[in-house]
Amino acid sequence: MNAKTVTFFLFLVINCIYAQQSVDQKVEELLSKMTLQEKIGQMNQYNGFWNFTGPTPEGGDQKIKYEHLASGLVGSMLNVRGVEEVKAVQKIAVEESRLGIPLLFGFDLIHGYKTVFPIPLAEAASWDLDAIKRSASLSAKEAAAAGINWTFAPMVDITRDARWGRVMEGAGEDPYLGSLVAAARVHGFQGEDLSSPHTIAASAKHFAAYGFAESGRDYNTVDIGLNTLHNMVLPPFKAAVDAGIKTFMNSFNDLNGIPATADAYLQREILKGEWNFEGFVVSDWGSIREMIDHGYAKDRKQAGKMALLGGSDMDMESSIYINELEALLKEGKVKLDLIDDAVKRILKVKFELGLFENPYLYCDEVLEKQITGAEEIIEATLDVAKKSIVLLKNENRILPLKKEGQKIGLIGPLAADKTSPLGNWRIAADNNTAVSVLEGLQKFKENQINYAQGVKLINKIPEGFHEEVDINTTDQTGLEEAIALAKKVDVVVMVLGEYGFQSGEGRSRTKLGLPGFQQELLEKVAEVNPNIVLVLMNGRPLIINWASENIPAIVEAWHLGTQSGNAIAQVLYGEYNPSGKLPMSFPRSIGQLPLYYNNKSTGRPGADGEDAGSVFWSHYGDEKNSPLYAFGHGLSYTQFEYTPVILSSNEMRKGSSIMASVNITNTGKVKGKEVVQLYVQDPYGSATRPIKELKGFQLIELNPGETKKVSFTINEELLKFYNAQQKWVAEEGIFYVFIGTDSTVKLKKPFELL
Ligand code: BGC
Repeated sequence: MNAKTVTFFLFLVINCIYAQQSVDQKVEELLSKMTLQEKIGQMNQYNGFWNFTGPTPEGGDQKIKYEHLASGLVGSMLNVRGVEEVKAVQKIAVEESRLGIPLLFGFDLIHGYKTVFPIPLAEAASWDLDAIKRSASLSAKEAAAAGINWTFAPMVDITRDARWGRVMEGAGEDPYLGSLVAAARVHGFQGEDLSSPHTIAASAKHFAAYGFAESGRDYNTVDIGLNTLHNMVLPPFKAAVDAGIKTFMNSFNDLNGIPATADAYLQREILKGEWNFEGFVVSDWGSIREMIDHGYAKDRKQAGKMALLGGSDMDMESSIYINELEALLKEGKVKLDLIDDAVKRILKVKFELGLFENPYLYCDEVLEKQITGAEEIIEATLDVAKKSIVLLKNENRILPLKKEGQKIGLIGPLAADKTSPLGNWRIAADNNTAVSVLEGLQKFKENQINYAQGVKLINKIPEGFHEEVDINTTDQTGLEEAIALAKKVDVVVMVLGEYGFQSGEGRSRTKLGLPGFQQELLEKVAEVNPNIVLVLMNGRPLIINWASENIPAIVEAWHLGTQSGNAIAQVLYGEYNPSGKLPMSFPRSIGQLPLYYNNKSTGRPGADGEDAGSVFWSHYGDEKNSPLYAFGHGLSYTQFEYTPVILSSNEMRKGSSIMASVNITNTGKVKGKEVVQLYVQDPYGSATRPIKELKGFQLIELNPGETKKVSFTINEELLKFYNAQQKWVAEEGIFYVFIGTDSTVKLKKPFELL
């Protein structure tokens, strides 16, 4: 027997013994066999660094990383994907290292793997938790079949600033919706049985407050108080823990002066303490090292010490733990207990994934072929894409389009683009694989469709990065052709917005209008043909005041993924009646940002948009306070009528509950779905409270003329907040209940909490 076979044999024997014990016992037993270096190795994560099925690296950094893999000094890899590659790397860890501990393979499965789902912000607009869960579950299935066993998702950062490019990765501005979406996605990724070859471990990120980056500039400082931290930022993370999430990722930002990577209050006191989270925390990419740039650690060694003390268990790509922890321990600057605790947490997840029983659990070539791009996954992307579309405006019933007898002009840089709809996080997907709007519309053969790009796209490849297209900002030569086309047709469908990488990490912007000459194109086309349906493709709220005033129909279609064009065409033709609702406010002006519906009243609230008769109230001299399109807004091809709220009682004792109900009638001519939204206001508190907070919603479907009673249970739990005494409690007194179609609902009913 050669050395490798002996190692593998030992691995099998150890596993036989492990099979009889509880996970915690197995972890303890394995830990007792590990050297200090092997322990620290588990806390080390490297990015994929060479073609693993090719020759072994001969020198430099790659060689060191390879040697670390073979000596058990790596706990996880990221960005290695595909069964062949994953298997090759797993083999090095399992067959060459002394203890043969299997690796975790992490990947940013943000909105799909090879088959791309809508961006998470779009999916949140569906308010359809089953569809969101199914999307996560099928993405996990496709990625798991390609060797991945851990996703860096869901991103659960609450965010109020559309300048921040990463709003596309989250569920928007509301902690209640954000918490339910977080839980749905965790359940989707992890499933009922983590050791199934179709489920993977999830990671809630970015812990914490990354979405509050000052001025919406990515990676920027965050300075918020405990009130906002606990009431707005933390709830979705807590929901992820309650849903049984296995890992957390911390964040690049500093929070009130402490880089999140070293924040013991967040990671040790709250997450691992109060919330009793038993999984592990991975740093963000290089965020341990970046603490030097933050001006928090004077060198790599101190950064390693701060990160460990702060609660970071695994080091993503800083190579600081692997190089500095041993010395820090010997110098007495960190304790072995903390290292042991981190390693135990990491090993536990590996056991739970079933990797010790079969390190190649996710490495089945046959399954990989069967599952990649399977019909079931494609159908699910189409389904959730349709559900994610929000009808912002529809005047004169211009939508749905007539199925025959119309000449349609399709105009815009994104109308035939098969790459932008894939959005930003699509590392494993190929360019040019989305169904374009042109292709989607062409399936409705009875109408004649003519297409003009109007504004061109240019190809660019930022250094060392994916190939991208950009919207041309210098060449106006396409405008004339588009105008000529618009003159000849009955209806113009214009597809405008952001190219796929215009939002996402590092893509903050200070201008949120339509990029390039798109606004000019829109206005010129409108001069010759007012029958315009504007389809927006974008990763964040845009500022579209002119369109909102002048264009009769506006459809928010985000970046919807692989089936984008089919979903959009089915909505435009009324085969699918849209029911999406905005998970983020759409501003009127960049100067309003940050903008969110659940704001505080201030000492000088006023009647927005009306002359308050004085200057000295909280407002702008040149713009309304309100958004252009509010949180929760979204129309349907039918109309819904709400009766006033009825409460089962106007008093509620702590520990008990009351019911709030309305009747809703579909007063239009077609069947439609409606997201019925419950908001509650706590008008006085020991700390000031938002003017309104989402506390429930139900997605219902009504036939024309049909009426349904919708009821919500309101209990003490729902009314709790982080108060002035830093307690999570419901305070006695009056509350107001609103039930309506969006966050602007005015009719309310009071009750008293006793
Ligand atoms: C991002 C994370 C991501 C990580 C690994 C970082 O730049 O902030 O969200 O998971 O890279 O790709």
